[in-house]
Amino acid sequence: MSRSTLGLLERRLLFVTGKGGVGKTSVAAAIGWLAAARGLRTLVCEVDAKGNLADFLGVGPLQFDPVEVRPNLAAMAMDTEASLREYLRLNLRVPLVARLGPVARTFDFVASAAPGVKEILTVGKLAYEVRERNYDLVVVDAPATGHVIGQLASPVAINDLVKVGLVRSQTDWMIELLTDADVTGVVVVTIPEEMPTTETLELIDRLHDETDIDVASVVVNRVLPEIFSRPESVVFDRLRSAEGLAVVRSELGPAVDEVVDGADLAVRLRRSRVPHLTRLREGLGDDVPLLYLPFLFHRSHGVRATSVLADAISDELGH
Ligand SMILES: Nc1ncnc2c1ncn2[C@@H]1O[C@H](COP(=O)(O)OP(=O)(O)OP(=O)(O)O)[C@@H](O)[C@H]1O
Ligand SMILES: [Mg+2]
Repeated sequence: MSRSTLGLLERRLLFVTGKGGVGKTSVAAAIGWLAAARGLRTLVCEVDAKGNLADFLGVGPLQFDPVEVRPNLAAMAMDTEASLREYLRLNLRVPLVARLGPVARTFDFVASAAPGVKEILTVGKLAYEVRERNYDLVVVDAPATGHVIGQLASPVAINDLVKVGLVRSQTDWMIELLTDADVTGVVVVTIPEEMPTTETLELIDRLHDETDIDVASVVVNRVLPEIFSRPESVVFDRLRSAEGLAVVRSELGPAVDEVVDGADLAVRLRRSRVPHLTRLREGLGDDVPLLYLPFLFHRSHGVRATSVLADAISDELGH
């Protein structure tokens, strides 16, 4: 598979994944927010039924039918049963599929018996939106590391089972779309800590080994700020030396020690992340673009955080 030279927002289908809790939903919302602000007709889709994407977009609970969040930005929640109904309506031209009550029950039965069915209905719906050019960009708040491969590989898994017929003709175009690096990419979100770094490197290896899907970017989220520039560090080092402290303490009292300790903690916390960032960079090599997003010290994490992260992504993309 050849890698794409396209930028993140030039692709058309992005699956945002990563270890639990690292910021997948935040980043998916922010990518969608940025793309829409840049004029791309964008759909953000949440796959996890218990997800909180709506909170990050400042809208009410999401449904299968997309809602408009702001100009150019629509959001939906995946519902595999609704996806099947839509598929049947579009492909089998069955009128009033909604009246076929047993479809739901049969579906549940089939979906729990045959692995990959729910996944293909998810991926199929998203790929369909891309194929039909209903949106310029579809961003998927995808399952966490452990489950995403199964979802991305589902068309291939089903292709291996079914050699001919209707299903095969459906999975063929999906595979084509998913394995075209100019169309589809995976965005792996991580944070500069040991376990997420390990999981990210393992996931990327597995994506290469088990799928033909390109990694569009690794997003390192919650990067702590460098609080001092080099000249400021020199001042800080002098300040926290015994003589420096003695001078300032005589002027401002013993609370100076706590203020200096606080700043020292911020410096050390940031430094403690460096080895993980280095391991990540070295593990990824030059192939995968890395984006860094700042730790947000906001009290609430709604639309405001989304727009700050969108600006940060925009800065990182550099154009
Ligand atoms: N850059 C950031 N700075 C500070 N807090 C953040 C940042 N990004 C995300 N968070 C917070 O971290 C928490 C987890 O984020 P989010 O829900 O996006 O993660 P997730 O990977 O989707 O989690 P899950 O695996 O549960 O779906 C949320 O409270 C979110 O507001
Ligand atoms: Mg999430």
